[in-house]
Amino acid sequence: MEGFPVLEDLGDVSGKKVLLRADFNCPIAEGPDGKTVITDDYRIVSTVPTIKWLLDRGASVTVMSHFGRPKGKHDDRYVLDPVEKRLAELVGPVTFLENVRFNPGEEANDDAFVKELIYGQDLYVNDAFAVSHRSHASVVGPPKYLPSAAGRQLEKEARMMSKLLNEPERPFIAIVGGAKIADKLSLLKSLARKVDAIVVGGGMSYTFQKALGHTTGDSIVDESKTEACSELLAAGPRILLPIDLIALKPGGKLDFSNNLSAEEKGETETIGVDVPDGFEAADIGPKTREYFAREIMSAKTILWNGPMGAFEDERFAGGTIAVAQAVAGCSAFSVVGGGDSVRALNDAGLEDKVSHVSTGGGASLELIEKGDLPGLIALRNAPKK
Ligand code: 3PG
Repeated sequence: MEGFPVLEDLGDVSGKKVLLRADFNCPIAEGPDGKTVITDDYRIVSTVPTIKWLLDRGASVTVMSHFGRPKGKHDDRYVLDPVEKRLAELVGPVTFLENVRFNPGEEANDDAFVKELIYGQDLYVNDAFAVSHRSHASVVGPPKYLPSAAGRQLEKEARMMSKLLNEPERPFIAIVGGAKIADKLSLLKSLARKVDAIVVGGGMSYTFQKALGHTTGDSIVDESKTEACSELLAAGPRILLPIDLIALKPGGKLDFSNNLSAEEKGETETIGVDVPDGFEAADIGPKTREYFAREIMSAKTILWNGPMGAFEDERFAGGTIAVAQAVAGCSAFSVVGGGDSVRALNDAGLEDKVSHVSTGGGASLELIEKGDLPGLIALRNAPKK
């Protein structure tokens, strides 16, 4: 996971042209004028140390990034203008390439496109942890030709993940949530070999409850994964499941934009783990919050990925906030990854209270599962300066 070149390995960068791969795939919304606005600039802000490091030493920097999934052709919604504007506020103007995913050569890892990208450049820096699990042209191509290094953000992400996975102080507890069990099964399987306990919440926990023979009402359940859940429960480590739930009563609706009328939203009820017919569980209950918090407080190392319920609906945000508060309040080395858990942590104003907030969802999952990333491997194999 480590052993890749970092900025200092580039030597004297003064007067050099540096091609920087960033991940500016920020969450966006449509502004009042129909134009894209960035709703969270964390990924932009986190590349600032690398860009400043290069500019301060006299390098000229060309920045490239993907933005959205435009599938190899120009899409006005994903031009990088709003990112360029925000970055200019932070570091002054830098040269920007067009969204690399407007070119089909990016996802195809086409060598001709790599050569276009590196034309006239002396050095390559990857500071895009969140996309380093993709073998795309701008991630793995330039290090075939140019002396290369990881930027500060990528370096820190890899160092934090390495500390978490290779030398965790015990007990090491993973908290895994999110709606879909299918998305998290391979993460759970690889974590099962590394951690002392797994705390499971969110929609995915109802498939575990089903596997244990509980009724699940109208809650999200993936019948095709109950057997895999039973196997995980049998194989260990300890898996902690909710002991009570907050559910939507029959006739109610989840309200992700929080704009339905009270009548449309319907009522909620705190129930046990057996969800009655017509009820839809959407958050962990108060007893579970205490139970999970006790476990979190006992940990020396924590990885948290995924919310404990449908937290976008404020009626079901309490469980995720309680977990965020417990993680922020404990003294363990704590890493939080995955867009939704990071958002919950930010909403609660607790992002400074954990050891590390990862910029990468898919990338951190792949690093946990496979122990390395194509972007890091490419840097290790790059020509030396
Ligand atoms: C992300 O947001 O996880 C990264 O930018 C990668 O984006 P992708 O899943 O579209 O490759």
